[in-house]
Amino acid sequence: MDRLHARTGRSLLLAALASAPACGGPAPAADAEAALACADTGPHPTWDDDVQGIFRTYCNACHAADAPDRHGAPADVTFDTPQQALSWASRVRQRTLVDQTMPIGGGVPAEDRHLLAVWLDCPG
Ligand code: HEC
Repeated sequence: MDRLHARTGRSLLLAALASAPACGGPAPAADAEAALACADTGPHPTWDDDVQGIFRTYCNACHAADAPDRHGAPADVTFDTPQQALSWASRVRQRTLVDQTMPIGGGVPAEDRHLLAVWLDCPG
């Protein structure tokens, strides 16, 4: 039941985010929406339950610190911990959510991009 409510809340937020201009970053209105959503004490995506799995699935073959073949991913761009991921938040937004050029060629499903978008704004 809680998960269902969480998803409904996310959908509303994402509808708001989706209405932001496609280029040039989020509009101030979207930032305000995100701030409101963060103030909401309801469940939202967490590193342990949602976001770590997204980085492991789509990013860490190249970006884990101990990846056997990083395919040229920069040594300092690692996503093994939430702190590391958040230190790259603006670039993750740009490359994975806006340009969809990370992973190389894109391919992160919309549902996971949505979870990532909410978590980057309201990490938990
Ligand atoms: C197949 C390997 C591979 C995968 C998978 C991959 N990356 Fe990368 N990543 C790279 C390479 C190579 C670079 C350096 C070249 C570049 O920036 O395009 C890079 C650079 C980056 C950078 C730093 C450059 C910048 O634009 O700031 C970020 C941030 C990044 N990746 C995020 C991600 C995220 C988030 C994912 C998963 C959703 C991901 N990457 C998946 C190979 C990968």
